[in-house]
Amino acid sequence: MSYTTERLNADAEGIRRAVELLNQGELVAFPTETVYGIGADAANSDAVKKIFEVKGRPAGHPLIVHVADTSAVYRWASEVTEAAEKLADAFWPGPLTMILPRTNLVAPEVVGDRDNIGLRVPSHTVAAALCGSFDGGIAAPSANRFGGVSPTTAQHVLDDLDGKIAAVIDGGPCEVGIESTIVELVDNEITVLRPGSITRYMLSEKLEGVDAEVDVAAALTQVARAPGMCESHYSPSTPLQMVQHPELGGVMASAVVSLAVIAPFEVETQPCWVMPKDVDGYARELYSTLRAADKSGVEQILIVPPEQGEGSEAVLDRIRKAAS
Ligand code: TXA
Ligand code: MG
Repeated sequence: MSYTTERLNADAEGIRRAVELLNQGELVAFPTETVYGIGADAANSDAVKKIFEVKGRPAGHPLIVHVADTSAVYRWASEVTEAAEKLADAFWPGPLTMILPRTNLVAPEVVGDRDNIGLRVPSHTVAAALCGSFDGGIAAPSANRFGGVSPTTAQHVLDDLDGKIAAVIDGGPCEVGIESTIVELVDNEITVLRPGSITRYMLSEKLEGVDAEVDVAAALTQVARAPGMCESHYSPSTPLQMVQHPELGGVMASAVVSLAVIAPFEVETQPCWVMPKDVDGYARELYSTLRAADKSGVEQILIVPPEQGEGSEAVLDRIRKAAS
């Protein structure tokens, strides 16, 4: 099916039209504080199947369901532990996804054959207004082709999906720039499955006094991962290599192909993108910069990561996966 994708304004009329389209089982991309998502009615199997088609995403990869507020979570999750309540109080609305045991409200295609569900209450005013006006949950993966770089503007969404979805709401560039932190909660064990701007240290701090442990999924803690664990993701089509600052000069000098460089400092070469030094600023600009470098026509992109610290885990994870 092909569409003339409607570009909707981030105003009351845009939200009204988006809700109308969701109710008709259509796909609508919308901004969140992290990245743009492609939304579908989470209770409508046919609508959810379209998401997998347009993304080229294999069935069985579960989707996150976005809801308006914590009270809506009780309709979708069958069990909300004390730890989950503490994290919801501390971080919702915001860039945290919690995987919890589920009720039967959700279309089976959203969760694969799992008995749990990923839930998130977004803080972006447009996402919040959309979730608040739509009577249900909105299943939404990042609005890019499977394996590609997530979109942080409406134009990025159109670059990937124009003609394939009914509409996109243009809410400007996303504030956080990388996808939400995902935590799985099983009894008192809390596992970070995907790092994000809400770090494991921030999670642990809010769980003081609760009998719960924050752990990090094995795949994230291994530097050299086993093949198969090392899923390539978030990738531009131009080969991307991560280079540490001290090695950059040598790598550039011995290169036999045309290069673009992305680094948190000036580099004497063209094209070059200077990233913010602070990790939040770096994260905010990462995907739009990868997309721009990918379009520049060079044969290889070199990227120097931000300085390592408590907040850099998520950005490093995205760069490693994009470069693998
Ligand atoms: O920031 C975000 O999370 C963005 C915005 C749009 O909300 N969404 C996003 O969705 O990044 P997606 O589909 O691109 O990534 C969601 C990840 C996938 O790797 C998926 O496998 C995992 O979350 N996931 C979702 N539900 C799950 C579940 N029930 N169990 C395990 N993993 C789950
Ligand atoms: Mg994604």
